[in-house]
Amino acid sequence: MSNYYPDEVIEEVRLSNDIVDVVGEYVKLQKKGKVYFGLCPFHNEKTPSFNVVPSGQYFNCFGCGRAGNVFQFIQLAENLDFVEAVKLLADRAHITLPEGNSANDGRLKLKQQLIEINVEAARYFRSILFNNTNTEGIQYLKRRGINETTIKKFGLGFSTDEWDSLYKYLIEKGFDHEAIKLSGLVIQNKKGGFYDRFRGRIMFPIFDIRGNVIGFGGRITGQGEPKYMNSPETLVYDKGRNLYALNYAKNSGEKRLILVEGYMDVISLHQYGITNVVASLGTAMTENQGKLLKKYADEIIIAYDADTAGQSATLRSMDILDDMGCNVKVLKIPDAKDPDEFIRKSGPEEFRKLINKSVTLLEYKIKLIESRISIETTEGQVRFLNEIADLLAKVSNSIEREMYARKFAREYNISEQSIFSEILKRIKPSKKVERRIAVKREDLKSVTARENERKKGSNIHNERLLLCLLCTDNSLYRIIKSKIKPEDFTDENNRKVAKFIFEKLENEKGIVPAELFNILDQSVSGEYSRILMEECNCEDNTKAVMDIINKMELYNLDNRLEEILNELNNRDGKEGNVEKLKHELQSIIARKKKLRFHS
Ligand code: CTP
Ligand code: MN
Repeated sequence: MSNYYPDEVIEEVRLSNDIVDVVGEYVKLQKKGKVYFGLCPFHNEKTPSFNVVPSGQYFNCFGCGRAGNVFQFIQLAENLDFVEAVKLLADRAHITLPEGNSANDGRLKLKQQLIEINVEAARYFRSILFNNTNTEGIQYLKRRGINETTIKKFGLGFSTDEWDSLYKYLIEKGFDHEAIKLSGLVIQNKKGGFYDRFRGRIMFPIFDIRGNVIGFGGRITGQGEPKYMNSPETLVYDKGRNLYALNYAKNSGEKRLILVEGYMDVISLHQYGITNVVASLGTAMTENQGKLLKKYADEIIIAYDADTAGQSATLRSMDILDDMGCNVKVLKIPDAKDPDEFIRKSGPEEFRKLINKSVTLLEYKIKLIESRISIETTEGQVRFLNEIADLLAKVSNSIEREMYARKFAREYNISEQSIFSEILKRIKPSKKVERRIAVKREDLKSVTARENERKKGSNIHNERLLLCLLCTDNSLYRIIKSKIKPEDFTDENNRKVAKFIFEKLENEKGIVPAELFNILDQSVSGEYSRILMEECNCEDNTKAVMDIINKMELYNLDNRLEEILNELNNRDGKEGNVEKLKHELQSIIARKKKLRFHS
């Protein structure tokens, strides 16, 4: 854990952010007994294995093994480091953190400033849109059928065609000049002066997933180039890592997300009640956006424009998503150039029908082949069959492959037999190495080595269990401290954790399970949370602790015993401290007897 803030402050922040509330802002949770369940936001799953334990204030996913307290959750969900997560949650709970002065702090402060500048600019653009002296913007939006509720929901605005009205406004508001420059909202001219990037345009604020304004797109209201002007990438605006309207779409309650090309498509569909729609930000879809989509949806439906540019973009995005293991489908827009035009013409019900008629990647590609190749001639039929076989041969799941082969055979009136044999020709013989049947005869040495590994693992587990019990019941410290020291823990990680806990309890500070995660390594937090959930509900904690301490001591004695035996063997009867070793041996054996007797 970074000791950037005092432990007490970190603990105050943690206590002020109930994990169920915080997680609930990202994941739909359902209560089952004492635990909340939901779909894991960190890996793709169809049945919930992600759970939040309110009593212990930690989360855990059986599927991907991620676990932690509210800080680790925010770190993962928002892609932040620990200090940034503390700051975010402090902010959420309106806690003022002590001032820091690290470089990290400066960066965070600048990020905050950039967001404030963007928010202020959005307010400014909105006030112009609703200002009666210039009705150009509002007239345009009316013409496009956008109502006032939608305008407000998406925070739309308008920029005047003056050269530097926003720049002046931001200066007047007292924003730092350097920060204004870095916001990308103004551009420096050759003489060193500044002018507004956006002039005479409908302004679309871009929100991040939490609803912060991080940039803008601006559309002209008439003809001309460029149609859209966009904020450049800044410290807060990463085009490849954000999706337009995801802040709304993620709450739509739908399991699928629809990906469209334009801001206007998003806005129009949302206005008609189809709210699970997002768009990329004027750039080609990236893998990171794919990850976001995958995080919030089981299925992604691509509904790009009907033109050829839209079609090739569809193929690219589909392949990216498919490679990432997403369920992806394509929605084809008939009789309109884009989703916006379609829904305005035909209404939401017709659009929903299109959603349900959307086709898989494979079906889409076959349709494309079909549109390219005429199957009127025999030659065309052969080419068609070949290309279909090429495609199907790439399907890795054999059941799926066969299903599609049958389907296409039926649809295009080709014999199943010929499709199958063409596919088979293309599938390379499996390279899977034949499993070796011969079981190597293990010699005694390796059996012992394995047994030692097992004992070691079980001891590490006992150490963890002891530490977890101690966190759930601090009163156990009285018994534990007289019998065991942090140095007695064999596992380095456990030793670190023990040191942390013992120190706290020694200073009568108390510790709860959730605090553990602040110092745990990601690699072990899953295991710790599992132990907390499943193994810390003993009837008699004292007895459990005594048992564990006994076992730990036995393990340590065994190790020492082996050391001594090795040493004695290697000495070949030479003198030295043989006597001393033998003496220790005796006392270890006696101690073991006693421990065994008691356990
Ligand atoms: N885009 C861009 N720069 C351009 C044109 C387009 O950044 N010069 C981006 C914008 O994000 C736009 C998207 O590509 O939303 C899709 O373009 P288009 O379909 O032309 O825009 P729409 O939002 O559908 O706008 P409209 O319906 O008003 O033409
Ligand atoms: Mn459009």
